Amino acid sequence: MRGPVVGSHYFDERPPVASRPRKIRARLRGREWTFVTDRGVFGRDAVDAGTRLLIETMRLAPTDHVLDVGCGYGPVGLVAAVSASAGRVVLVDVNARAVHLAEQNAALNNVSNVEVLLGDGGTVVAGRTFDVAVTNPPIRAGRATLLRLVREVGDVLRPGGRLVFVVRTAQGAKTLAREVAAIFGTVTELAHKSGYRVYEAVKGDATAPAPTQRDV
Ligand SMILES: C[S@@+](CC[C@H](N)C(=O)[O-])C[C@H]1O[C@@H](n2cnc3c(N)ncnc32)[C@H](O)[C@@H]1O
Repeated sequence: MRGPVVGSHYFDERPPVASRPRKIRARLRGREWTFVTDRGVFGRDAVDAGTRLLIETMRLAPTDHVLDVGCGYGPVGLVAAVSASAGRVVLVDVNARAVHLAEQNAALNNVSNVEVLLGDGGTVVAGRTFDVAVTNPPIRAGRATLLRLVREVGDVLRPGGRLVFVVRTAQGAKTLAREVAAIFGTVTELAHKSGYRVYEAVKGDATAPAPTQRDV
């Protein structure tokens, strides 16, 4: 009999656990969604509570060009694509199974203004420019990876562009918010519910004053 898979994470590029797809349903921003999920992918059994808070909190303009970093099977990026109906959303994940699911879920839910890419953080979209980046980040990947992802996102946001992210309070939300503030200049807490916090960081331009921090 096989034992547990040691060292397996939802952010493995090729999850070592056998695929066993299933469908889940969720009502997000007033719309019914069906998602195909799978083993080895974050939030397999239900849309995560932090993901839900991020989705309900994020504010997007119809023409926004949006980046979803660490898209998983796609809930954040696909809902964002409905709000940014005249814009476009690029969903990125390092997990090939997640990328495949996000593509399937875009088709399943009739969302066409999206592109799903397999890749590491912002490097896969280097050279492009986004108005907004949204993420439920891979906290378990560790601080160094998280801060690298934040910097890479900062590189592809336009000046004045926004990074909107959710973190569980018990998983270091306030610390990460302070670290993001040091990189972006400002961070504002947008929501705080059920043990999760949603923050927004605005990319300063070249004339931005020294970093400050609000509401963190
Ligand atoms: C907390 S999960 C969120 C998944 C999805 N957005 C959701 O809310 O259900 C974080 C995601 O980040 C992905 N990830 C981890 N490291 C990454 C990296 N370096 N670049 C892109 N995605 C990464 C993981 O595979 C995982 O799908």
